[in-house]
Amino acid sequence: MKKKIFSGVQPTGTVTLGNYIGAFKQFTDLQDEFDCIFCIVDQHAITMPQERLELRKNIKALAALYLAVGIDPEKVTLFIQSEVPAHAQAGWMMQCVSTIGELERMTQYKDKSAKTASVSAGLLTYPPLMAADILLYQTDVVPVGDDQKQHIELTRDLAERFNKKYNDVLTIPEIRVPKNGARIMSLQDPTKKMSKSDANKKSIVTLLDDLKTIEKKIKSAVTDSEGIVKYDPTNKPGISNLLTIEAALTDASIDSLVAKYEGVGYGDFKASVASAVTAHLAPIQERYKELLDSEELDRILDEGAEKANFLANKTLKKMENAMGLGRKRK
Ligand code: TYM
Repeated sequence: MKKKIFSGVQPTGTVTLGNYIGAFKQFTDLQDEFDCIFCIVDQHAITMPQERLELRKNIKALAALYLAVGIDPEKVTLFIQSEVPAHAQAGWMMQCVSTIGELERMTQYKDKSAKTASVSAGLLTYPPLMAADILLYQTDVVPVGDDQKQHIELTRDLAERFNKKYNDVLTIPEIRVPKNGARIMSLQDPTKKMSKSDANKKSIVTLLDDLKTIEKKIKSAVTDSEGIVKYDPTNKPGISNLLTIEAALTDASIDSLVAKYEGVGYGDFKASVASAVTAHLAPIQERYKELLDSEELDRILDEGAEKANFLANKTLKKMENAMGLGRKRK
């Protein structure tokens, strides 16, 4: 039997090159080898304020993008989190095996709550919901970017705690980050993660930026004054980030790229990285436009929800029986 993969992306409007390299690219690379389940995590999105019509639009847009990057709905289960109620149900159970102390130690919670005047309780209890997402499908491997590491470690801890305290019903998942590009950095401050919430839009490339804009953003990426294309993330974070981006998109090794750019100036180097990025994103953007309003999209999401409900409910029942909730059922 194939091993199981689960991962999710938030429908918050902007999908960055970081999201693509850290997550989507892995999804498409892994879909033949694994039994894959991918989710549009709209319940995670509402931990921060969302405008309802925008959220609705973003959910469909993200579904179209999943397919546009090359996810094959014949091989993969793609669904919307809120259409599978077991996530919220199991999320509650995982909250009850988490401690407030461990949730308060999550760095994403600390970062996001520091920037928000009124912090929702959901922002704090987000990681147990993420654990539920993963554990409901008896997931073996979770492909994500580096920024989700702490959440996956917590998921493993919660699953082990649940198994020990109640009954051995949950699979302990492994994390998988890409070899190149587990953390794509901001184009304007390459010591910081490329993040969709960055106020400076020159820092991020989004998958749906027009190609000219992408070219401009990459050509104005911050570098250094040395003038040599070398991979050295500590001393040359800007150049190293651009090398990582090209390596991730073209499946070339960093070493081969460093050799290719020997003696090449930064201007030509950046132009060449920009053309690798636009060549990769152009066909994705074309497919995205075709898919966005297609009826096919709704059919795929309906089928995905049906399959996900079936799978998730099986584990949910086991978890409820293990914890002693409700009446015993088969
Ligand atoms: P989200 O929506 O913030 O990001 C989606 C994916 O993109 C990766 N990522 C990056 N990778 C490399 N470089 C970057 N600069 C970069 N920025 C983002 C993220 O690591 C992620 O893989 N909590 C999750 C969504 C989630 C989930 C899950 C993921 C909910 N339930 C279950 C896996 C399994 C999140 O907010 O991702």
